[in-house]
Amino acid sequence: MNVGIIGFGSMGRMMAEKFAASGLVSKNSLLLASRSPEKLQDAKKWATVAGSNSELAASSDIVFLCLRPFDLKGVLEEIRDVLRPETLVVSLNGSVSFANLEKSLTGGARRLAKVIPSVTAEVDRSQTLVCYNDNVTTEDKGNLKRLLSCMGDIIELPENEMGMGSELVSCMPGFIASIFDVLVKAAEEHTKIPHDQVVRMVLQTMIATGELMLKKDMSFEDVVKRVATPGGITEEGTKVVYENFPETARVLFEKTLQKRKMTAEKAEAQFE
Ligand SMILES: NC(=O)c1ccc[n+]([C@@H]2O[C@H](COP(=O)([O-])OP(=O)(O)OC[C@H]3O[C@@H](n4cnc5c(N)ncnc54)[C@H](OP(=O)(O)O)[C@@H]3O)[C@@H](O)[C@H]2O)c1
Repeated sequence: MNVGIIGFGSMGRMMAEKFAASGLVSKNSLLLASRSPEKLQDAKKWATVAGSNSELAASSDIVFLCLRPFDLKGVLEEIRDVLRPETLVVSLNGSVSFANLEKSLTGGARRLAKVIPSVTAEVDRSQTLVCYNDNVTTEDKGNLKRLLSCMGDIIELPENEMGMGSELVSCMPGFIASIFDVLVKAAEEHTKIPHDQVVRMVLQTMIATGELMLKKDMSFEDVVKRVATPGGITEEGTKVVYENFPETARVLFEKTLQKRKMTAEKAEAQFE
């Protein structure tokens, strides 16, 4: 099975490297194309660089479009005449709907999927989101899942839940990192423990808390109850979080979802 990746930026490179390193796709079967061919030079050791986007599309069974939303339409128009009807076209972009992707790909029923990986794929712990249009076969889904499994787990969602899904797994590393950055900076106003050590203490505790919850089937409230004994020190802190943080969390999702909607509207307008 030939796997093509168009766009060799952050996501395209990460996926290509994962597919190659996992041994799931051989050098001859992993085809790459991007706007700046010089960026593909070092990948020639483990992948095949195609002469153009359409050359890649013509020989691929799965084509990943690792492109920003405003580059998608041009590339779809470039490759649509050479794509075989059975080729699975996978967009990494969540803003452009299947309906608009289909509009740009004339030539009959197209098999389309959208895939949203997380940066945690770098440590094989992505929870990669995937959704399909109605033309995708069970075999296509199996092939795609086999490939994506080298980055971590796969979560299938309906198209209309991909936005919030992306907030929860793809944006969440950024949300978590910024929340803990604030916590660490506040803690450091009261300690001389070196910064690296503080960060390590918090990170290890964060990872261990997650593992505790998953392994012991505990909820967030269970952990809070377990640690914050009534009238104790932890309870003073958790009370502050429950009193003050809900407003920040509410605004956070209000802002990100609003931005997501605006980005989608702008991206979709190109297809009208
Ligand atoms: N970054 C994330 O964490 C993340 C997570 C999930 C989903 N996504 C989605 O994944 C998509 C790609 O994001 P990214 O962060 O990988 O973007 P990126 O780093 O900007 O990469 C985009 C790549 O596409 C190439 N490109 C642009 N126009 C092209 C064309 N006409 N033909 C061939 N290649 C072309 C660019 O080439 P140049 O090198 O010449 O610019 C660049 O290598 C986006 O839609 C994004 O929303 C991103």
